[in-house]
Amino acid sequence: MKILLVGSGGREHALAWKIAQSPLCDTLYGAPGNAGIAQHAELVDVAADDVAVLLRFAKREQIDLVLVGPEAPLVAGLVDACAAAGIKAFGPSRAAAQLEGSKAFAKDILHRHGIPTGGYQTFDRAEAAKDYVASLRPPIVVKADGLAAGKGVIICKSKKEAGEWIDAMIIEGRFGTAGSKLIVEEFLTGEEASIMAFTDGKTIATMPSSQDHKRALDNDDGPNTGGMGAYSPAPVVTSEVYDKIERDILIPTVHAMNVEDKPYRGVLYAGLMIEADNARVLEFNVRFGDPETQPVLIRLKSDLVPLILSTIDGTLDQAEIEWDERPAVCVVMASGGYPGKYQKGCPITGIDEAEALGDVKVFHAGTAERDGRLVTNGGRVLGVTAVGADLPAAITRAYEAVDRISFQDAHYRHDIAARALNRPAR
Ligand code: AMP
Ligand code: GLY
Repeated sequence: MKILLVGSGGREHALAWKIAQSPLCDTLYGAPGNAGIAQHAELVDVAADDVAVLLRFAKREQIDLVLVGPEAPLVAGLVDACAAAGIKAFGPSRAAAQLEGSKAFAKDILHRHGIPTGGYQTFDRAEAAKDYVASLRPPIVVKADGLAAGKGVIICKSKKEAGEWIDAMIIEGRFGTAGSKLIVEEFLTGEEASIMAFTDGKTIATMPSSQDHKRALDNDDGPNTGGMGAYSPAPVVTSEVYDKIERDILIPTVHAMNVEDKPYRGVLYAGLMIEADNARVLEFNVRFGDPETQPVLIRLKSDLVPLILSTIDGTLDQAEIEWDERPAVCVVMASGGYPGKYQKGCPITGIDEAEALGDVKVFHAGTAERDGRLVTNGGRVLGVTAVGADLPAAITRAYEAVDRISFQDAHYRHDIAARALNRPAR
């Protein structure tokens, strides 16, 4: 098969690495890709959200399967456009991608179908939003309705701060049209976890749990980022919680999307808050998570391509999926300054030495090749991923690998997965 992989981050490198191992894949293209994806794919210089040009490329090259990494092309309708052209594409339709594209849409679905989540109200007028905020006790969660590259969620410590953000979104247009509508949401407490599932709209195949680390600094300090590391499985998701998530959240959501005439296919990602063995939905993503995909996919023993095809063809009930029992840890190495301003073009060394340790795969995120040298090309640069006999072994191996790698001003967290080790007795 000829496969086109859309995207350029660590998630997409993990996907490319897995797809390239499949006997079903003859040729892999990456649009636009990075230096790691280039080890497995021919790179195509097209932006991940340029639906028209991606479609033209897929038609011209007679692509058999399009696999979409990020949310923007899904929300923009790339899967619908491919389907209309007779090209198989993995992921939800534009209508179903509203589960991530509009937070109000997602909350309304959850609410209408009795799926556990925090209370909320939707507003497109600042005065009405502020009146509602006056009736709440802080912290108050204000979220831009549309896609805002992870920046549209604000946890406000006071009513005054909530009011300022409401003005910034609706009146000043800080997030463009994404913030012209917003939701004000109940603040949930507990421990976060991520669960991803394949679904063909009838059957779900739930992946092992994982946990992201969104803050830039150790001990969950510092600003929010795209994710500084992840591990799988997450012990907060006990087998009892995992079963409840499938029964009370994933299956009802897939069912709800059918009832609402927006059948959902692809990967459904639930960002969850877990407290006292109960899970509530914080958000849905309509695609693989980044960086959760790196430690989850490294544990997938089965061929990914048949799984993807069965998700598109509606035969997921017949798919076989085998997972490595061993836990995995991914430490993100970022450019100094990220998520603020950072330098690009710094040479990277030591990846081969890191992988030579064994049980290590270094997934590239923001990398490029310049004059034959590997250099930094983004905020998150590498996802150094290791498996181990147990979680402490996986953590140790991941950090041994990190120690082998260097680039100027490299920054990473030292406590990825530490929370899983320091759990209170139950
Ligand atoms: P989201 O992009 O919706 O996942 O939000 C980003 C982060 O904000 C989440 O990972 C949580 O840490 C936090 N967050 C979002 N919504 C809530 C909420 N209702 N209560 C507490 N924290 C939240
Ligand atoms: N790790 C969260 C996300 O992929 O959006």
